[in-house]
Amino acid sequence: MKDKFGRDIYYLRISVTDRCNLRCIYCMPENGVKFIPHKEILRFEEIIEIVKASTTIGISSVRLTGGEPLLRKGTVELIRMLKDIKGINRVTMTTNGTLLSKYAKELKSAGITSINVSLDTLMPDKFRKITRNGDINDVIEGIKKAVGEGITTKLNVVLQKENLDEAADLIRFSKEMGTTIRFIEYMPLDSCIVLSEDPFVSAKELIRIIEETFGDIAETNYTMGDGPAKYIHIKSLDTEVGIIASISEPFCSRCNRIRLTSDGIIKPCLASNIGYDIKSVLRAKHGEKDIVNTIVNAIEAKPLMHHMNSKKQEIHMNKIGG
Ligand code: GTP
Ligand code: 5AD
Ligand code: SF4
Repeated sequence: MKDKFGRDIYYLRISVTDRCNLRCIYCMPENGVKFIPHKEILRFEEIIEIVKASTTIGISSVRLTGGEPLLRKGTVELIRMLKDIKGINRVTMTTNGTLLSKYAKELKSAGITSINVSLDTLMPDKFRKITRNGDINDVIEGIKKAVGEGITTKLNVVLQKENLDEAADLIRFSKEMGTTIRFIEYMPLDSCIVLSEDPFVSAKELIRIIEETFGDIAETNYTMGDGPAKYIHIKSLDTEVGIIASISEPFCSRCNRIRLTSDGIIKPCLASNIGYDIKSVLRAKHGEKDIVNTIVNAIEAKPLMHHMNSKKQEIHMNKIGG
């Protein structure tokens, strides 16, 4: 359905767990993370009921996020069930990739449309620092396995001063792997501790470096998935590179999404603290009409844009799913 600013909202991001086996410095604190108790987490049948209801107002694309979605037992089965819902055309997932080599085959057979894998660096030590002890080999193996299974795969690089010098290598790596790479401007959120004082690097700075390294680039109308990335074409490499400029060039006017947290709150916008408690509506067993109404209310409450550039946000990415 259309929101009050005329944006077509057809994409639902579902966080299936707030737990993660990594602790990326820009996402989660190292210790003392309070996880949501199990009974507060939506059961798979509840997620399915919400998604079925959402199709009646035009939701057609869903993405599973986390925390790390593959940490939750049965995520692959959930994907299979989501694919079977009439009206749902795309079922995708954003993952840290550490468990991908184990699940790639099953994901393919469950019918996943595509996956996005986070990878900020190619250096094992830097990876360990950014993720607080993750092993980069797990992720690289996972990416190879996924591509090998024929799963369309994109790489997400959160741009930081610490990895800007690797931008060219990451682009070459992605081409070699047969994936699509996207660079994401760092969003200043709560619970972020970063390697340097001010980690932010703008899309403009990245483009300057790409041009310096590879020569001519061209803007494109290329699209890939339902997301906010804009793609440039690097002529010498004959490859596209995606850029998500959430801060320097907010894409709010093109926003197409709402979010469902693992504890059953519908969030109209990543960068706002408003939420609609759909779990209570569901568990009160009032029926589909009330579930649909809750989603409609959330869509109608979507703000025109975020204000992340003016103040630090109280947002926990592992709960909302990025
Ligand atoms: P596709 O393009 O369909 O693959 O999806 P996507 O790019 O939306 O998904 P992904 O989970 O890979 O997100 C990529 C980056 O965009 C992450 O850093 C997200 O945090 C960010 N992002 C996703 N949705 C929003 C949003 O609504 N607002 C802002 N500011 N950033 C978002
Ligand atoms: N700024 C930008 N992107 C972020 N992500 C997590 N935290 C941030 C942040 N502060 C990214 C992850 C993942 C996606 C879901 O969100 O790297 O690719
Ligand atoms: Fe886990 Fe992703 Fe957050 Fe890193 S960014 S701690 S991989 S949820």
